[in-house]
Amino acid sequence: MAAYFDHNATTPLAPEALTAMSRALAEDFGNPSSVHQYGQRAKGLLDEARTAVAGLIGADPGEIVFTGSGTEADNLAVRGAAEALETAGKRHLITSAFEHEAVLNTLKALGKRGWRVTFLPLDATGIVGPDALEAALTDDTALVSVMHANNEIGTVQPIPALARLAHARGALFHTDAVQSAGKLPVSVRSLDVDLLSISAHKINGPKGVGALWVKRGIRLVPTMTGGKHERNRRAGTENVAGIVGFGAAATASRTKLAMNAERLSGLRDALENGILSRVDGTQVNGAIAPRVPNTTNISFDGVEAESLLIALDLEGFAVSTGSACSSGTLEPSHVLRAMGLPAHRAQNSIRFSLGQGNNQAEVDALLARLPAIVAKLRSLVRR
Ligand SMILES: Cc1ncc(COP(=O)(O)O)c(C=O)c1O
Repeated sequence: MAAYFDHNATTPLAPEALTAMSRALAEDFGNPSSVHQYGQRAKGLLDEARTAVAGLIGADPGEIVFTGSGTEADNLAVRGAAEALETAGKRHLITSAFEHEAVLNTLKALGKRGWRVTFLPLDATGIVGPDALEAALTDDTALVSVMHANNEIGTVQPIPALARLAHARGALFHTDAVQSAGKLPVSVRSLDVDLLSISAHKINGPKGVGALWVKRGIRLVPTMTGGKHERNRRAGTENVAGIVGFGAAATASRTKLAMNAERLSGLRDALENGILSRVDGTQVNGAIAPRVPNTTNISFDGVEAESLLIALDLEGFAVSTGSACSSGTLEPSHVLRAMGLPAHRAQNSIRFSLGQGNNQAEVDALLARLPAIVAKLRSLVRR
């Protein structure tokens, strides 16, 4: 039996998204910026999708800026806010050490251009504590960016508490909610943030589409210059079919959120407990709670994660060693290292991330094969 347990890397397209996209591609080729009826039809589709995506995160449709990916949304948030606040004399940025590369490398790039950048430490359970942020904030801080849920271990950060501290020192707050939207109830107002990024392909929408929520009144310098698309915030003719698919996926995931969360956390727990009880020398990395319902990250003592990934793949099970963007590098995960895990344990860790298509039979099939695969890999190492 083959099974896909890598939904934090990407998800299959929801049937609702496929139907809506096919129709848009076949029938609605107009440019949404055109005045004639072809254009207006395409603009109508964008408006509908904007309302649906806004609905997933409790936002006003007018605050949604469509982008070409979650990565682009993160770039627009960080670079756009930094550049807008530079004129106010602010030159300090804060993030956490376990962000996705889209945020981490953007701040590192700004660091090379003269910004002072602080990377907040994590505790051993993968949580960024408010104390660490409070100590790092200065009157010079322009922006704090801390992700909502981590892509490798799934831990959920105390965003409202962190955002409150940032605001008290006059800094903006951005959160990367790419891995929490569609898995947890996400409300931009309750999180109390100023900027929030999401990505379509993590919620059963198409790849190559993202969105940045920008709170009304927040000034951003666009990273993409050109025409007046997306209210002057992101130039370039919109990917109408992709955005339509994003909207359909957002509606579907909002409708099914509670049901999916309960079902997936049950399956995830069965998988996690099954591994811990059947395979000795295994530990869960990161806090058990608060955590997104679909993710577990487990280290297997004495087993090279890449070898386990390949052995599982040969049997039809897709898992990952961490972020898809950094896989293949053989570098131990920066997330696990930031939590203080020794390099060897970080190199022994596998992420299992479940999604709507998974079922108990797939979990059982994996649990039936895993102990023998791990035992074989361990015996090869011992030789
Ligand atoms: C937390 C997080 N942020 C950002 C991204 C980037 O999103 P995209 O693949 O749409 O560029 C990812 C994708 O893995 C992610 O997990």
